[in-house]
Amino acid sequence: MTLRAIIIGAAAGGGLPQWNCAAANSRAAWDDHRAPRATQSALAVTVDGDAWALVNASPDLRGQVLATPELQPRPATEAGLRNSPIKSVLLTNGDIDHVAGLLTLREGHTFDLFATPAIHAVLDANPIFEALARDRVARRPAALDAPFALLPGLTATLYAAPGKVPLYMEGETVETGIEGEQTVGVALSDGRRTLHYIPGCARMTPALAERLGGAAAVLFDGTVFHDDEMARAGVGTKTGARMGHMAMAGPEGSLAAFEGLDVGRKVYVHINNTNPVWDPRSPERARVEAAGWEVAFDGMEIVP
Ligand code: MLT
Ligand code: MN
Repeated sequence: MTLRAIIIGAAAGGGLPQWNCAAANSRAAWDDHRAPRATQSALAVTVDGDAWALVNASPDLRGQVLATPELQPRPATEAGLRNSPIKSVLLTNGDIDHVAGLLTLREGHTFDLFATPAIHAVLDANPIFEALARDRVARRPAALDAPFALLPGLTATLYAAPGKVPLYMEGETVETGIEGEQTVGVALSDGRRTLHYIPGCARMTPALAERLGGAAAVLFDGTVFHDDEMARAGVGTKTGARMGHMAMAGPEGSLAAFEGLDVGRKVYVHINNTNPVWDPRSPERARVEAAGWEVAFDGMEIVP
């Protein structure tokens, strides 16, 4: 039983290119088929190579299954001709880029859906998710800091990561650094090695830094390089902080936060289409690589 992960979607919400965007990275992707492209944020994990769990269900899930033979139906199983190796799905928050793909998973397949009680409440309040019939898709609440079996032989532990409520649930005032059930990271372990998946994190806390120390791999929020990157790219005024994402650069950024942390592999995931690290020739890419980071791409495999 060896943990194996595939980053099936490396981009943040919108993907690369984003359907309505002509800023530099998207423009390159529209114009040149060799330029980086990526689908929206999700991870697939297994320990036996047979049964798989998804961490987050991206709006691009159907294309991700098309691109990933491991996630495709087997020729015939005891379940019959309609089957899938996807046995469970875990959500790290209620954002559209992490839940919309649940609607792709209708069609009568049986699987377990894990999330914190707060995120289950968000799904419960949206009747469209009743398309996942509850007698087939068991909605399983997962408490923070309580390990559970995401798959046989694969233990998952959710923990609070500073963040906010989903964009579509924001009120007039928004707290962006809530530590609770709205945004979580997950530690995945096969009993020997631990991989952390944290696609959204508003800031590094001492408790989180301590938790990550010694991990074989950390797949971490790489939404923006600069906090004011959307403005720099000419596509808006929202900052990374306002979106609940810490930047890579700056004194409060992830590059600084991970300095001195003992982590085997550091991989940026959930990368926004405005982030200059998408360009392999950019100085920003050189900077993160010099600091020991890898930049995820669709199909990237991690055996921690
Ligand atoms: C985020 O990661 O900040 C969200 O996915 C944004 C969104 O919902 O578009
Ligand atoms: Mn997102």
